[in-house]
This record gives sequence, structure tokens and C-alpha cells, in this order.
Amino acid sequence: MATAQPTKGDIEKRTSVAKPSQEVAVAGGGAGLLADAPSRREFLYYIWGASMVLLLGQLSAGLIWFIFPRFREGEFGGEFAFNPDDLPPVGDAPVSVPAGRFHVSMTENGLLALFGVCTHLGCLPRWVPTNARFECPCHGSKFNADGSWIEGPAPRGLDRFVARVIYADGTEVATDAGGGPIPLDPTKTVVDIRVNTGRKVTGPRI
Ligand code: FES
Repeated sequence: MATAQPTKGDIEKRTSVAKPSQEVAVAGGGAGLLADAPSRREFLYYIWGASMVLLLGQLSAGLIWFIFPRFREGEFGGEFAFNPDDLPPVGDAPVSVPAGRFHVSMTENGLLALFGVCTHLGCLPRWVPTNARFECPCHGSKFNADGSWIEGPAPRGLDRFVARVIYADGTEVATDAGGGPIPLDPTKTVVDIRVNTGRKVTGPRI
């Protein structure tokens, strides 16, 4: 018996019936993937987000640490206000500021803020009025009022801190890079003196 050949209409019918079932199969098989994909992606987003937050936190902390002073005013390592009225006359005994571990000395060449620690092994030289010099009690190093070395095992003069002299007209002058004395302008009124114990300049070599 001869088999009836499917007509064009039969083929179209089968195709039209088969298509939806294929789509359903694909949709059904991909349902798991579609359900999983967002959660994995979200997880990666969370990891990425957490990493970014951590990184930004570290950067912010570093920035704050860098921008803001680590020491308060009047704390060793920070800036000290020195009353201009306390400035000694030129050639007189330097004025000590124990909390800042420095001495303010007025020499013929200007103002110096000398670090009060011996450059030999770290003892504390004292001002000896009768000899008009600093003398170290440990090994006998001696220093002039401007911190320059006189004698003893210390390898150099006393180190100095960077100071700023502020005048009434708003101008100011600071210790230079070499740590030299700040010459005061006699025509101006000094209203403030600042000594930064966080910025030290090496004392003059012998
Ligand atoms: S510590 Fe000052 S001379 Fe030695």
C-alpha cells in the first residue's frame, strides 16, 4: 500500500505545533541558569563592593592621618606657642620650655629654638650661667648660646627646631633650611612665636 506523502499544509501544521514545545524545553532547561546567574553575579558584586569600601576606607584613613596633625598644640612633636614677652634680651640666658624640650635663645644674629638634647648620646645639657654656655652632665660636651659646639665628644652643635615669628602686620619669618637664627625686624612688633617640635634641623657640624 502506497504511503500518502505529507502535503505542504501537513508540514506547516507539524512545524507550528513543534515550535512551542521546543521553546518550552529551552525555557525550562534555562530556568535554572537564569535563576542562578543573578545570584552569582550579585555575589561577585558584593565582593567587589566590599573590596571597594575597604580600599576607600584605607585611603580615607591615610589621608586623614596625613592631613591632620598627629600631635596637639603644646604636645612634644607638635607646635608650641612661645610668648614674645618671654623672649630673653640678646646675650641673656636662653629660656627653657621643658614640655617642648627646647630652649629659645636670642643671639646677635636672631632667634633660635634649640633642641635640648645632647647630640652625643642624648643627655640633657644645662645652661650654666657662670660659664654662659650649655654643659652636658654625662660626658662634658659644651655648647654656646647659639647651640654651636665648644668641646667634648658631641659630634655637632645642638639641633634646632623650625620656628616662626609672626608680626602684627601679619607677615612672618621662619627658620631657614639650614636652621640658622631668625633675625628680628626692630621696626615691627612680634605678636606670636611658634616652635614646631616636629621639624628638627641638624645642628652645625664641628
Ligand atoms: S651625652 Fe652629652 S656629652 Fe655625652
